[in-house]
Amino acid sequence: MTEQFQEYQHSLRKLSEEERTRLQDDAVPVSEFKKNKLEKDAQRNWDLFYKRNSTNFFKDRHWTSREFQELCSDEVLVGKTLLEVGCGVGNTIFPLLEEIPSIFIHACDFSKRAVAFVEENGVYDPKRMNAFQCDITHDRLTTHVSEESVDIITVIFVMSSISPEKMLPALENIAAVLKPGGIVLFRDYGMYDHAMLRFSKGHKISENFYVRQDGTRAYYFTTEYLTKLFSDASYDVINCQYVQRRTINKKEGIDVPRMFVQGKFMKRTSITEQLSDTGKPPAKVLLAASTSP
Ligand SMILES: C[S@@+](CC[C@H](N)C(=O)[O-])C[C@H]1O[C@@H](n2cnc3c(N)ncnc32)[C@H](O)[C@@H]1O
Repeated sequence: MTEQFQEYQHSLRKLSEEERTRLQDDAVPVSEFKKNKLEKDAQRNWDLFYKRNSTNFFKDRHWTSREFQELCSDEVLVGKTLLEVGCGVGNTIFPLLEEIPSIFIHACDFSKRAVAFVEENGVYDPKRMNAFQCDITHDRLTTHVSEESVDIITVIFVMSSISPEKMLPALENIAAVLKPGGIVLFRDYGMYDHAMLRFSKGHKISENFYVRQDGTRAYYFTTEYLTKLFSDASYDVINCQYVQRRTINKKEGIDVPRMFVQGKFMKRTSITEQLSDTGKPPAKVLLAASTSP
């Protein structure tokens, strides 16, 4: 299936009457028991996903350096360190490693199989990469990566598989290894994505959160939700927007609207933290301003 890039709108897409009714009719969530079981089995279900699909499911993501200017110049990235959380089998990191020869990449996933696939990849180079198993909602990242040592963190189609209650702790965990002023680059499913509208009854876990046939889960983000989430976790929002695309396959007669959210967030430094808490510059900054010529 090919993704075509002719459309690039940043608004929430308008639903047809039929789509709206379909969403409204699907109001009853799964039982509390099933919800808890899906949470307990999250890691296992992703591991089974990789057992079934090995490295064949996702295509390499060659678009990251096009979409995020931070990743487009090797010169700027000399000596920099990147962490990819939820790296899967490496579809984001291996293209990056090729395009940016001077970068060092930490990569983690909670699926043992996924991490093993990364390590078995012919391009894997322990001098330039560090792959490890870690549940970012539970295990401290600082046991694998030094505190405040990472310049850029990529979170690509990962947060959607985490239950909403655990998203904030996950972002706080990530923040512990990010340098103050470091950047999180984020892309994931957006509200009213085609896949969200196709779930039949019995797949809704909670508001905007669904379970797929294989037990993996998908949350569909609004930009408001994402902005609040990152702000609460002590990041400044640099940008956060919808990206509308169409997936088109003429041979199979497929033409469906895809919705993604894409954002860039900066970990607050202690000064920006004080700024955003009080709404006023901190005394230290005022003092510096008053004494400068
Ligand atoms: C859709 S895949 C995306 C993989 C990769 N980021 C990419 O761009 O191809 C989502 C990945 O997130 C991982 N994941 C989900 N929840 C996680 C968690 N709590 N901690 C670490 N990894 C997680 C899954 O195992 C899966 O490999």
